Amino acid sequence: MDTRGRLLEYLKKESGGWVSGEALSREIGVTRSAVWKNIVRLRGDGYVIDSSPGKGYSLSRTPDMLLPNEIWEGLETEVFGRGEIVYFRETDSTNARARELADQGAPEGTLVVAESQTKGRGRKGRSWFSPPGTGIYASLILRPDLSPDEAPRITFVTAISAAEALLSLTLLDVAIKWPNDILIKEKKVAGILTEISAEMDVIDYMVVGLGMNVNNPHLPHDIAERATSVLMETGGEFQRVKILREYLRRQERYYQVLRESGFGPVLGRWKELTNTIGKRVMVEMIDRRYTGVVTGVDPDGVLILQEEGGQVRRILSGDVIFV
Ligand code: BTN
Repeated sequence: MDTRGRLLEYLKKESGGWVSGEALSREIGVTRSAVWKNIVRLRGDGYVIDSSPGKGYSLSRTPDMLLPNEIWEGLETEVFGRGEIVYFRETDSTNARARELADQGAPEGTLVVAESQTKGRGRKGRSWFSPPGTGIYASLILRPDLSPDEAPRITFVTAISAAEALLSLTLLDVAIKWPNDILIKEKKVAGILTEISAEMDVIDYMVVGLGMNVNNPHLPHDIAERATSVLMETGGEFQRVKILREYLRRQERYYQVLRESGFGPVLGRWKELTNTIGKRVMVEMIDRRYTGVVTGVDPDGVLILQEEGGQVRRILSGDVIFV
């Protein structure tokens, strides 16, 4: 942990009480002037730290930001988000940044987070609405021992992790729409964009990007009909960092389940969380669309659609629209 992290840890332990500069410098093992410089930087990050000549320093407010030190505090993972967390106040796309890092050899578990994105990317070339300070925009680098055609398994792992994290913290009625949209009352609250770099039969890396609308009081007109936020559904604000930590914890756990027990248990959990099976839907693909009833998913997670005429289609990728 860096000096700022240790300073914060110490100040938080005092929960609003005063700690002298001398004690901080002694405990952390840096000069008093280094303590002061780091306090100034923490203030710049949004921490409210009072100082008084006789008493020292006191932390009176922690910002709701996705700062690495806030994510690390209480993070129950061993690899995901454990090593480097690359933090941006603003960037074009955390997936784009994570791909650059992965190309340079960044290890599995490296996390890129941003408070806002100027070119947030969605599936199928769409954009992802990414205003500052309200959502989660996070991309994780993975290097799974899978073949490229098994890559969608990681998206299922991610979808159940995001859905479970939301469910456990908000108690909302969360469901997954095939393959990986997270919905609340049939409106999208989170989406996943998985990008892959692979050779013929081996994955080099995957970047798994999660976008979640958390504290948005409202959404722009063009998406308001199909999208929602946690705040809009509950009427209350949630600490984004808590949701992110819970998501990472579950994602690491299911990633391990996938590695040790295969895709079966992951798909089993996904089926418990999905709202798509049994529904009448229209599936839109690049060059065609089909309408019918979803009768299930096969052991690889491929959607099985029975058309009105009785014909059965296996859908590998597409957009599902409930009709
Ligand atoms: C979708 O279309 O449903 C996927 C949306 C994924 C958005 C996230 S936000 C963090 C990461 N960075 C991006 O540019 N996109 C993903």
